[in-house]
Formats: sequence, structure tokens, C-alpha cells
Amino acid sequence: SAGRHYQVDVIAGDGIGQEVMSAATVCVDAVAEACGFSIAWRDRDWGSDYYRSHGRMMPVDGLEQLADGDAILLGAVGAPDIPDDVTLWGLLIPIRREFLQYVNLRPVRILPGVSSPLRDADGLDMVIVRENVEGEYSEVGGRLYRGRPEEMAVQEAVFTRRGVVRIAEYAVAQAKARRGLLTSATKSNGIIHTMLFWDEVVAEVATAAGLEVDKMLIDALAARVVLKPRSLDVIVASNLFGDIISDLAAAAAGSIGVAPSANINPPKDHPSMFEPVHGSAPDIAGQGIANPVGQLWAAAMMLQHLGETEGADRLTAAFESALAAGVRTRDLGGQATTAEFTQAVLARCTDTS
Ligand code: NAI
Ligand code: MG
Repeated sequence: SAGRHYQVDVIAGDGIGQEVMSAATVCVDAVAEACGFSIAWRDRDWGSDYYRSHGRMMPVDGLEQLADGDAILLGAVGAPDIPDDVTLWGLLIPIRREFLQYVNLRPVRILPGVSSPLRDADGLDMVIVRENVEGEYSEVGGRLYRGRPEEMAVQEAVFTRRGVVRIAEYAVAQAKARRGLLTSATKSNGIIHTMLFWDEVVAEVATAAGLEVDKMLIDALAARVVLKPRSLDVIVASNLFGDIISDLAAAAAGSIGVAPSANINPPKDHPSMFEPVHGSAPDIAGQGIANPVGQLWAAAMMLQHLGETEGADRLTAAFESALAAGVRTRDLGGQATTAEFTQAVLARCTDTS
């Protein structure tokens, strides 16, 4: 096992992205040392500061610079003085699309010491497999007659057979490795072209793999996440439905500060990107109180993707154990600062008992 070495690009980004990222890299380094691998971090100073001095979120050849890395660890991007579509389309969306990160994977479970706002959520444990590069978030469309009474806007949803097959295959594999329950989010009663196509292709893929799909209208599925969250195992959803249902599920699990998200290119032709679900949180940035668990969990997903399963498990166990011991940041009702929580995790990363 000697010589396992990885090159990871770090885009800490804005606001608390900077604060939670240093927690993650120090803990990953500790886990790496304990498990016999190493990571070379390539720091990228991209994001809103870069935008203010260069007029772009990343260099012209930014994607080329990332292309030979093993993975990308992202903090958060977004600043109050820059429009959110600029920060999103200038960095995150180009990375997701250029590197064909067509799976957005969001595990959701209730961590120790985190309480759900739901009454009946004990044991909630699901993963959302969101299509990440096509669907409703397309550039196809346009606007006409701006500012006039005739003004109109059209935006087309794009679903391809290849795109739906590959996301369905990924979700089927997840379900088979878990409880075997696959729920597909749809709206084929109202959206009769793209969503009927989605239903057909998902069913074909699942049937070929010997799995039954539980097809559910997105509105009813939203209610089920709230009322019977434990009945869900793997949810496969289009880009828009997956976006909404994963935030709903993350909220059901208690705190935005702990939720992770992975943008994966499953064939590993390109680097995948791992990030917390939360944003740059300008309201608490600079105070040293951000919860680093979402970033730590994202880093654990990165280790899993790199094949470092023992490291991933060790890191996950370390932050779960710190939470269980009552070390918690303020968003979880505790008193710990980011640095104090990180120290508690770090001590557990190297603990060999
Ligand atoms: P946000 O996630 O930054 O903050 C929402 C609320 O949750 C705030 O009250 C914040 O203090 C709290 N919060 C978030 N993460 C936390 C953590 N780790 N520990 C403790 N409390 C935490 O969402 P918001 O305010 O809507 O967006 C702020 C900026 O972040 C915007 O510019 C937005 O575009 C950007 N954003 C970026 C994302 C990304 O980089 N992927 C994702 C979401 C938002
Ligand atoms: Mg979202």
C-alpha cells in the first residue's frame, strides 16, 4: 500500500468557505498519515476576491489547470456585492459540466447530537441521486421584447436517453448497495413529454437490473420526506427536482451546516468535486463559529471516491464521535468554535484505540 499519493485542488472560495476548508484539510492530512496515503493540496485563490481583481471567477484556463488533478474540494462561493448567477455560472457550473460530473450525490442522515425538526425522523437514512448536467437547467431558450407588454421568456428542459440512462444506472447501483429501495421523482401527469420519457427510461434501466422502481410525483414525494422519511432509501431525480428535494431532505436531517454534496464523474475520466451544501454564510463569516461538518463529510466522500475507504470511515467516525461527545458549534446549540470542534475531530482522527 506504499506510494498512494493524490493531487487535490482546493477552492476554499468565499466567507466561511475559507474557515471550514482549513478544518477539512488538516483532518484529512491526519487521516492520510494514519492510513498510509498522502495528498498534495493545490490551493486555488479563485472566487469573489479573484473576480474583484480580474473580472472573472477563475482564470481563463482554470478548467485546464484542474483537469489533471484527482479531485476538487470546494468550500463555498458567493458574496453580497456580486450577483449569485455570476458566481455560480463563473465557477461551479462550468466545472460540473466540463468535467461531466453528471451525478450529484447527497447522503442524508441524522448525525449524533443533531435534532430533526420532524417528529418521526429517527433512523432517517437516504441518499439523493440528482442528475447534474442536463434537464431543466439548460441554456436553451431566450427572451424577447424586453420591457414591453409582449415580453416573453422561454426555457427548454433537455433530457437525453444517454443522460437519463447513466443517472438511473448510478442510482440502481446505489440502491443495490443499500436497502434496495429506489424511488424515482417525476411529474409525468403534468409534464407529459420530458417526464414521461424519464419514467420510461428509468423503468427500463431498473427492470434490466432486476429492481423495481417506486415512481412518485414530486409533490407527493415532498410530503413523504416530511411524513415518512424512514420509508425512503435512494431517490433518483432530475436536476430541478433533485435540487429541491435534497434541500428539503437536508433540512429534515437538522442543519444546513452538516450536509455534504458530491459532484461525480463516475467513469473517472475527469476529476470529481466535493463540497458542503451550505454557502458562504456572510452573516457569520469571519467570526470563527462556522460548523465544519458539511465540509468534513464532503472530504470523507472524496476519500471514498479516491478508493481510500478506511480513511473515509475514519474521518466520518471522528466527526460523529466529536458530535456524540457533545462538542458542537452554535448552529447545533453548542458553544464550540470552528477551531475547538476541529481539534476534537483531529484528536479522534489519529486515535488508534
Ligand atoms: P448559506 O448556506 O450561506 O447560509 C444560510 C444560513 O445558514 C445562514 O444563516 C448561515 O449562517 C447558516 N449556515 C450555513 N452554513 C453554516 C455552517 N457551516 N455553520 C453554521 N451556520 C451555517 O446560504 P445563503 O445565505 O442563502 O447564501 C449566502 C451566499 O452563499 C450567497 O452568495 C449564495 O449564492 C452562496 N451559496 C453558495 C453555494 C455554493 O458555493 N455551493 C451554495 C449556497 C449558497
Ligand atoms: Mg440548492
